Amino acid sequence: MTDILLEMRGITKTFPGVKALENVNLQVKAGEIHALMGENGAGKSTLMKVLSGVYPHGSYEGDILFKGNACEFKDIRNSEELGIVIIHQELALIPQLSVAENIFLGNEQASRGIINWNETVVKTRELLKTVGLSESPNIHAGTLGVGKQQLVEIAKALSKEVKLLILDEPTAALNEEDSENLLNLMLAFKEQGLTSIIISHKLNEIMKVADSITILRDGKTIETLNVREDQITEDRIIKGMVGRDLTHRYPERETNIGDILFEVKNWNVYHPQQSERKVIDEVSFHINRGEIVGIAGLMGAGRTELAMSIFGQSYGKKISGQLFKDGKETKLPDISKAIDEGIAYVTEDRKEYGLILMDDIKRNTTLANLNGISKWFVVDDYKEINEAEGFRKKLNIKTPSIHQKTGNLSGGNQQKVVLSKWIFTGPDLLILDEPTRGIDVGAKYEIYTIINQLAAQGKGILMISSELPELLGMCDRIYVMSEGRFTGEVPRAKANQETLMKFMTKSRR
Ligand SMILES: Nc1ncnc2c1ncn2[C@@H]1O[C@H](COP(=O)(O)OP(=O)(O)OP(=O)(O)O)[C@@H](O)[C@H]1O
Ligand SMILES: [Mg+2]
Repeated sequence: MTDILLEMRGITKTFPGVKALENVNLQVKAGEIHALMGENGAGKSTLMKVLSGVYPHGSYEGDILFKGNACEFKDIRNSEELGIVIIHQELALIPQLSVAENIFLGNEQASRGIINWNETVVKTRELLKTVGLSESPNIHAGTLGVGKQQLVEIAKALSKEVKLLILDEPTAALNEEDSENLLNLMLAFKEQGLTSIIISHKLNEIMKVADSITILRDGKTIETLNVREDQITEDRIIKGMVGRDLTHRYPERETNIGDILFEVKNWNVYHPQQSERKVIDEVSFHINRGEIVGIAGLMGAGRTELAMSIFGQSYGKKISGQLFKDGKETKLPDISKAIDEGIAYVTEDRKEYGLILMDDIKRNTTLANLNGISKWFVVDDYKEINEAEGFRKKLNIKTPSIHQKTGNLSGGNQQKVVLSKWIFTGPDLLILDEPTRGIDVGAKYEIYTIINQLAAQGKGILMISSELPELLGMCDRIYVMSEGRFTGEVPRAKANQETLMKFMTKSRR
């Protein structure tokens, strides 16, 4: 099975001020699962957009050969005609349309201009079955969770007679179970002869599914590793990506725990629309100065809802309970009050709540703390540039300049701007919701170092994460949530995956 299905040769792609790809080569064998790996901004998504015609022929240099034939795609339709289907980093289903409509959008099952709905529904049902979904073809895509939406995207790809399936960070927003399902599905498709390319920052996933890995760094091909034959280890992959050995995934830290910084007592929150539904049930907890506290829980356990309801009541209705800051009771009825009290919340959904994509890095960084760069209510441009420049260096944000629109940054680098923005508010309590989602291993280490520094300065950190190793590697104490309640509290010394999982799956019944 040494047939080469796809070959990309000498691909160079530039954006104003950025050489995103420089002479990149990629060879994908027929029937394999090929992983693309590399640091944030290495060029992975760009390479796949070149391949799928998002960036048309003429806008890049180099050659694409599919089944040995040279291809000059003008748009996505061109590449799809050959069976090259890409599922992008940002999900693209239209929430108001039904699952069936989404799947056949632009590929309507019609004869003589009339859409055949029966056929559409029947075919959709079959496709959903293939990806393991039993939902009705008629429900709105927006009512499905991200895991299921991802599967619908795959069903949509299958509807196009796919020969090469490209998945750009498909599991970034999925929980363990949904990720596992998706990876198993990829393996099942491989059995049936489908070739796929997967981009992911999760090493364990790549180890599970990939036959080979091509590593990009700074827009260049570094190497292609043969995972199975050469028995490649995770450390070996990291070395290729980062360019050096990374012996520890979590920086060392000396803990110095002070007084109670923030306390939440008997916190109850009801759903904003369904007024009878209690989302957070009698939750009480505290964070000390100098302490990093984690919250573990499965998707839907209420972790984000809890954080947002505390952060200026940005989630929920009928909220009751007490909040204490440095021993004094406080009320946080809106976000600006929360910021004034020294609380910052780094959202898990950077597109929706975190960034103004049309605006540049500089403005996004200072947005939540204009006081920090103003004198007599006038923004001091020089100071703004200085601060933003400082964060660019500290967090290693990959961009030619802080005047770049955040919408043009790679996924992981957008996340770093969101972090900068909230750190710049100089918070006493920093709430981090999935802070390293979509971030590469090297940059994760940088972010952990910054979190540790904040703790060392006597700040408190509340960290929500679905990656248990991350909580275990970083936190002094971990609370566990299930179905809106706290089901356990585990100190660092006693914390391990099994204990956490036990509390995470503890149900009322
Ligand atoms: N439309 C654009 N305009 C300007 N620069 C861009 C644009 N798209 C990408 N870039 C730049 O090209 C480089 C490669 O970006 P790309 O999105 O391919 O990275 P990536 O490897 O997918 O990273 P991540 O892991 O963070 O998703 C980055 O420096 C990015 O800022
Ligand atoms: Mg990307």
